[in-house]
Amino acid sequence: MSALQELEQLLRDASSGIRQADSLKTLEEQRVAWLGKKSRLMALSKEAGALAGDDKVAFWKRFNEAKGELEAAIAARKAALASAGTVESIDVTLPGSAMAHGRLHPITRTIGSILGIFVPMGFEIIEGPEVEFEYYNFDALNIPRDHPSRESFDTFFVDLPSPEPTKKGQLVLRSHTSPVQIRVMEKRKPPLRIIVPGKVYRPDPLDPSHSFMFHQVEGLMVDDKTSFADLKGVLEQFLKGLFGANTTTRFRPHFFPFTEPSAEVDIACASCQGKGCPTCGRKGWIEIMGCGMVHPNVLKAVGYDPRTVQGFAFGMGVERIAMLKHNVPDIRLFFENDLRFLEQFG
Ligand code: DAH
Repeated sequence: MSALQELEQLLRDASSGIRQADSLKTLEEQRVAWLGKKSRLMALSKEAGALAGDDKVAFWKRFNEAKGELEAAIAARKAALASAGTVESIDVTLPGSAMAHGRLHPITRTIGSILGIFVPMGFEIIEGPEVEFEYYNFDALNIPRDHPSRESFDTFFVDLPSPEPTKKGQLVLRSHTSPVQIRVMEKRKPPLRIIVPGKVYRPDPLDPSHSFMFHQVEGLMVDDKTSFADLKGVLEQFLKGLFGANTTTRFRPHFFPFTEPSAEVDIACASCQGKGCPTCGRKGWIEIMGCGMVHPNVLKAVGYDPRTVQGFAFGMGVERIAMLKHNVPDIRLFFENDLRFLEQFG
């Protein structure tokens, strides 16, 4: 057998040995056996010292190629073994794990629906602080210090010194969004149309219809000729927009310190159309919001002249509306962040 033939034979043996190496360790043994100092390849290169002329040229050309091929085969086998070790058990036919879709919280969505009806009617969205002065939460809204009506707006006091204790009283967590009416009227002149979403706080024990934190949306319109008829028109349009075009509304006289006259607005129970059923507590009507004409004392508190401007205001609880719209039996569900609940919206 010529040196060249022997080289070809060696290349075939080495290639099959490398291909069969089933671990990095046996592959290394193969490398030493076929390319190491004591390998047959090296022995062959010494024997080839005797060659001359064309044989010599042909041998060395093929020798260098063979060495390159073996090195490449070893590198390829090494890569195959390494990747097999880490991804050996991938089953490409398994379904992928789907990314969960995020969605808006039902309270955020309800606020969005409410604002989405008032904004086209020309109301501007405004927000105010959750930590508020007593003055804005009560006094300026015609809720006097030692008046029993303060009790229905039971309030968390903030345990920090007030920056303006004599002029604006203590710091509280606002118990309603009505103080934002005052903040806006203090800074601006009529005509005004604002809609104010936000969190409010009351020290109520948790139960299916009470939470120490919940959301309200407040509205205020002030102009020179704003009347109770405007108030009725705006709120009827709002309630039809929110609960459907066939919604029947009712304005029932009520008392709020900051409005006069005041009313509560009910919608006819959708389950019984006003006849009375368990959903509406046999009343036939469901209370949705409070409203009224802005009290002259409130207008005076912000420096407006009640003889030349008048306005209406209204306020509603967002959770209550969301519960009615979606048949949610317990307000606490909104704050527990249980995905099985939240995923049912949107
Ligand atoms: N602030 C009242 C509350 O928290 C709701 C309310 C009633 C707001 C009548 C108003 C209003 O602006 O006119 O119960």
